[in-house]
Amino acid sequence: MLANKNIVLGVCGSIAAYKSATLVRLMIKAGANVQVVMTPDATNFITPLTLSTLSKKPVLVEYFIAETGEWNNHVELGLWADLLVIAPASANTLAKMANGLCDNLLMAVYLSAKCPVYFAPAMDLDMWKHDATTENISRLQSFGNILIPPGSGELASGLHGEGRMAEPEEIIAFLSSDIKKKLPLANKKILVSAGPTYEAIDPVRFIGNHSSGKMGFAIADQLALMGADVTLVSGPSAQVSKQHSVTRIDVTSAAEMLEACLANFKSSDACIMSAAVADYTPVTVASQKIKKKETNFSIDLKKTTDILGELGKLKSSKQVLAGFALETNDEEKNAIDKLERKNLDFIVLNSLNDEGAGFKKDTNKITIIDRNGEKTAFGLKSKADVARDICLKIAELITP
Ligand code: CTP
Repeated sequence: MLANKNIVLGVCGSIAAYKSATLVRLMIKAGANVQVVMTPDATNFITPLTLSTLSKKPVLVEYFIAETGEWNNHVELGLWADLLVIAPASANTLAKMANGLCDNLLMAVYLSAKCPVYFAPAMDLDMWKHDATTENISRLQSFGNILIPPGSGELASGLHGEGRMAEPEEIIAFLSSDIKKKLPLANKKILVSAGPTYEAIDPVRFIGNHSSGKMGFAIADQLALMGADVTLVSGPSAQVSKQHSVTRIDVTSAAEMLEACLANFKSSDACIMSAAVADYTPVTVASQKIKKKETNFSIDLKKTTDILGELGKLKSSKQVLAGFALETNDEEKNAIDKLERKNLDFIVLNSLNDEGAGFKKDTNKITIIDRNGEKTAFGLKSKADVARDICLKIAELITP
């Protein structure tokens, strides 16, 4: 959840500042860009060198850089940040934040920030329990700032109780889950299918198609980025999910894909079938390798089950169901026919007549047609951007 996020980490004067080193390391490990801003007092507890080495950026403390005469632009920093995390937040800094006092660079960044602000207090038991601190924290929460609650245990003073800054791992988990729950598809379970299916002829041969799985994998990644809990049923494909949270179920044949989709559909809020499922499969699979014949050779084929059609029959009014139509002629008419026949909420139309669209390409050009007849045609885009357009349509239709 923190990957590619710009984080300003504010560090205040508190013994808990020693934990900031681990916190910076974990943020960097999670893929974030971290700019540390320390209060002057914080430098008594941990050196800027430690934090600049770990964050791979010079640490900022003062408005002015005496040697160069330059100044650190707090407005730019406030705009750059996707998150401002103040950890440790001392009683003094909390009081300043609650009252809009601006006597150091960190306070100026705080007052300029347009992004969510998280604060992880660290102080002694009595300071934490003081009415002034309680009031300051409620005031900060009323401004929309988010409290990362302190833990309980032994404090630097030797006292036991509340006031100890949350551990760096807990702060990372708190930030990740808070970001996730605010995403448009948070708490939604979505089923995606991708890739081709292989229909066995004998132990060494199969009937397959050219689908690479790129589109379905891009959709699964995008849904996960939007906060969904994604199950990806994939036919044989060399693709890998970029998002670790995607649960992958590997299948080979259309029959296996049907079974995996049926097992997961009922508990899903939405399903998008992007797999290129074989329409036919051999009536019998030879148990031994078929030997060459002197004359022509033919294989008896039977129809596979239309997985999307089956899901359409099972679909409840709360579920969103979508499919793909890859057409070469009468594109819109054929797509609308599929949408109605399979009881879909929307269909993604690809035309093989469009350059840059289709199997194995990194780009695609789609038109989304929904069950109300609304039609949106998109330009040629990367499959990742096409996936985003499709996922936004799911987010629009899914029950909040
Ligand atoms: N699909 C499916 N199960 C099948 C075949 C297709 O779930 N056995 C799904 C695909 O994942 C896709 C949509 O149905 O979302 C495609 O519809 P389909 O009618 O199969 O399209 P074509 O295979 O292109 O069929 P036609 O030859 O009739 O155009």
